Amino acid sequence: MKSEIHEFGKMIDGILSGLDGITAEDVDIEGKSIRYYRGSFWTQKQRQGNSLHEISYRACFKPQLPDFFIRKLTDKNSTVFDPFNGRGTTVVQSAILGRKSVGIDVNPISEVLTLPRIDIPKIDEIFERLDSISVDKQETADIDLGMFFHEKTISEILSLKNYLVERYESRKEDNIDKWIRMVSTSRLTGHSSGFFSVYSLPPNQAASKEDQLRINEKLKQKPEYRDTKKIIKKKTNSLLRDVNQPGIRARINSTGLHSKVTTFDCTKASLLVNPETIDLTVTSPPFLDVVQYAKDNWLRCWFNGIDVDKVEKNIFTTSNVESWLKFIETVFKELYIITKKGGHVAFEVGEVRKGRINLDEYILKKGIVTGFEVVCVFINDHIFTKTSNIWGVKNSKLGTNSNRIILMRKA
Ligand SMILES: C[S@@+](CC[C@H](N)C(=O)[O-])C[C@H]1O[C@@H](n2cnc3c(N)ncnc32)[C@H](O)[C@@H]1O
Repeated sequence: MKSEIHEFGKMIDGILSGLDGITAEDVDIEGKSIRYYRGSFWTQKQRQGNSLHEISYRACFKPQLPDFFIRKLTDKNSTVFDPFNGRGTTVVQSAILGRKSVGIDVNPISEVLTLPRIDIPKIDEIFERLDSISVDKQETADIDLGMFFHEKTISEILSLKNYLVERYESRKEDNIDKWIRMVSTSRLTGHSSGFFSVYSLPPNQAASKEDQLRINEKLKQKPEYRDTKKIIKKKTNSLLRDVNQPGIRARINSTGLHSKVTTFDCTKASLLVNPETIDLTVTSPPFLDVVQYAKDNWLRCWFNGIDVDKVEKNIFTTSNVESWLKFIETVFKELYIITKKGGHVAFEVGEVRKGRINLDEYILKKGIVTGFEVVCVFINDHIFTKTSNIWGVKNSKLGTNSNRIILMRKA
């Protein structure tokens, strides 16, 4: 390892100011000295995320991650981008900080989960609308959902689903309906009485019908009635816990008005986003062979009338490093086109295959090939309490986790 005066020294000093215990190491990658910083950049306890983020989605990142880069690398006139929007962590955090943004994802559930949180209705409007939705007790589902829900709960879910379809098709759907859609979607299945279902997998990971039958048998459980409107109201209150202070909702909504969230393939991002208009991208790609976004979202797709097979075809998944890197290169080419000169990309790399593959090095090279300069790599370490749920048995122990983020810049 060699230590050199780094060309981005001054800028990095600014990024690291106020942080303790950060270590640095220079790694030689193909003749280039790349500085790796390691420490706790954004996971200190005092930096809790806003309650508005509390919607689960597979492989989402903590809001503290985009928060860190948005604060350090943008100002109120900047535009932030996430090509792999997921639950919308980057977009929502941008709105909280008063930065407009663009978020795209091929999974339409991403849009469902993100849009209402940058165009937030008032609580009493949500409750009033919810109370006005009538429940048709005769409703029966087109698929068997009896392993997840009590029959009375199914009637309520179907009434909500039909109401939302009707509002959408008659072009009457407003931000209040979208809020109800988002909260219902996020409450379908989970592992507490705060969800519509009997005990199931965590909410970002719908069990298949067969798996749910096995869970029910193992836990000797059967679905009990859940009051869906009560659950939606409770979740609404908790999501809006940090948003109700005067001014916050207004700031988020006025920023949201100038932001864009849509279902789109990021390998064609430059068809949607104008060249050289993005100041900062904060993102994490679909990781190698670990997450099946479409399968995990089948019930959420059903509720929203989305064809899960179509989604599956569009979402990029592979366990082959070569084709994954080719995909990343295509995305970087698009990012290069739409990034302003002097703009940045903070790209989170998953730790896959127990560290056997050094993805950051491969990605760094792809960044350089597409024209970006590599500023540095951040390795954020944090200690957490790991809870593994194995068929209902909770096992809490301390664990460590680390995110690797490559910071690149367009000269
Ligand atoms: C790791 S997740 C992103 C999570 C996000 N950072 C969050 O906090 O929720 C990766 C996302 O990439 C999306 N995706 C996969 N292929 C895509 C493509 N070609 N274009 C856009 N999004 C894609 C998946 O649907 C998934 O939502």
